[in-house]
Amino acid sequence: MKHIYLSPFALCFLLFVLITPTPNNSISTLEVSTKDITNRTCKRCAEDSTAFSYDFCISSLQTIPASHATNLHGLAIIGMELALENATNTISTIKYLLSSGTFDRYALVRLRDCLELYTDAIVTIVDGVAAFLTEHYSVAEVKVSAVMEASTTCEEGFAEKKGVVSPLTEENFNLFQLSDISLCIIHILSLVEY
Ligand SMILES: *[C@@H]1O[C@H](CO)[C@@H](O)[C@H](O)[C@H]1NC(C)=O
Ligand SMILES: *[C@@H]1O[C@H](CO)[C@@H](O)[C@H](O)[C@H]1NC(C)=O
Repeated sequence: MKHIYLSPFALCFLLFVLITPTPNNSISTLEVSTKDITNRTCKRCAEDSTAFSYDFCISSLQTIPASHATNLHGLAIIGMELALENATNTISTIKYLLSSGTFDRYALVRLRDCLELYTDAIVTIVDGVAAFLTEHYSVAEVKVSAVMEASTTCEEGFAEKKGVVSPLTEENFNLFQLSDISLCIIHILSLVEY
């Protein structure tokens, strides 16, 4: 099992290294421009969609080292990387919850559904990254949208029965938002480059 989850990371890391432009400015200039582009991008995306969280966007893209991602391409890759990392961590969380012995049969079935959704989502994100890198933006958008849908489907599974509280609300929210960031940036690029 393990190598299935690690190989997308390796892939993305490699792509990330290949794509990241060599810094040719001073670090302080890069910090300013990275902050600036993050700020502008998060603002624009928040204006386009009511489900989009500006604060989440700023705080998740803030974790990027200053020497990276001084353009929209880089930000899109980072968004997908963060989504990939998040989904991978959530798979571990779900496996832990499944083995914790604290859920009834209904919740266990839902958790297993979520495990499948997240496992598929990992593959879909990697496909999305590949499509993005080959500039098949509309394919990348479909892939990233499917990931958002997976998070929604997982969350809604728990809501079908009254009184059941989803143990994955935060995880689903995180994956939804990270995918939404990627989707919005890919969309902006598709408008510019077509
Ligand atoms: C982002 O831009 C707003 C104004 O549009 C500004 O008030 C804020 O300080 C900026 N934040 C960062 C992190 O640069
Ligand atoms: C998921 O991503 C969000 C935003 O980047 C971060 O705050 C959170 O810690 C991540 N969670 C996991 C489990 O990786």
